[in-house]
Amino acid sequence: MIVSAPLVTSRSGIEYRVYPDAGQVALSAAEHWVLHAARSQAARGGFSVALSGGATPKKLHELIASAPYRDRVDWGHIEIFFGDERAVPPDHPDSNYRMARETLLDRVPILEERVHRMQGEPADLAAEARRYSRLLEERLERTGEGVPILDLVFLGMGGDGHTASLFPGTAALSERREHVVANDVPQLSTRRLTLTFPVLNAARSVVFLVTGEGKAERVAEIFEVRPGAPAFPAGRVRPNPGELLWLLDAAACSRLSGARP
Ligand code: 6PG
Repeated sequence: MIVSAPLVTSRSGIEYRVYPDAGQVALSAAEHWVLHAARSQAARGGFSVALSGGATPKKLHELIASAPYRDRVDWGHIEIFFGDERAVPPDHPDSNYRMARETLLDRVPILEERVHRMQGEPADLAAEARRYSRLLEERLERTGEGVPILDLVFLGMGGDGHTASLFPGTAALSERREHVVANDVPQLSTRRLTLTFPVLNAARSVVFLVTGEGKAERVAEIFEVRPGAPAFPAGRVRPNPGELLWLLDAAACSRLSGARP
């Protein structure tokens, strides 16, 4: 049972809800999934959702793949996309697709052709970025500027303030035209595929799931406009006219001024 958590607005204008623990965050996110899916399917006959990588979404995926949430989703009218992917094959332990397959996709009745994997295995990641951009453009409605519109995007945040694979100081942060890029991430000595800000900010709804003490400092910097603080990538996701909502646990909010020690 989800505890109720008031909707709060940060000094930087971000709306968020704080839950006692990561389990409650996942439950709230599952409710959002079901709500947005029903709303999108009623309004447009379909529902597109982009999954986040990392560890935080696992609880959400396991909830959605189990009763009662599994039975509250119309799996025949849903398309699954990915926010980013590592430069690894789909069966690699670091693959976001593998995590999604194991925690969600193998457990629900969704047709393979409705799951759109970002392919991290090709040597030419730029070509895959172009392919995935075209896929988004073909499968989704677009804005007047031609930007594909996802119904719901789940995102996480790293301790350095990155989201998807938009890492601080990387070229993808300034991408305004392409919808998907292969981003060099020198701090990880790797390349990553990632959706860009234009696509994230065109989404009808973006929900961040952020939990744990390790994120607390960055959350405080993003939520409380501190003089001289840099604009972290996660703080630059500002969908318009879409909805932005951060779902956090108390640990991730423990550095907010006024937070209970
Ligand atoms: C990835 C994710 C990334 C993730 C953050 C937080 O590919 O790693 O897309 O943006 O959301 O790194 O990861 P955790 O949930 O594991 O803390």
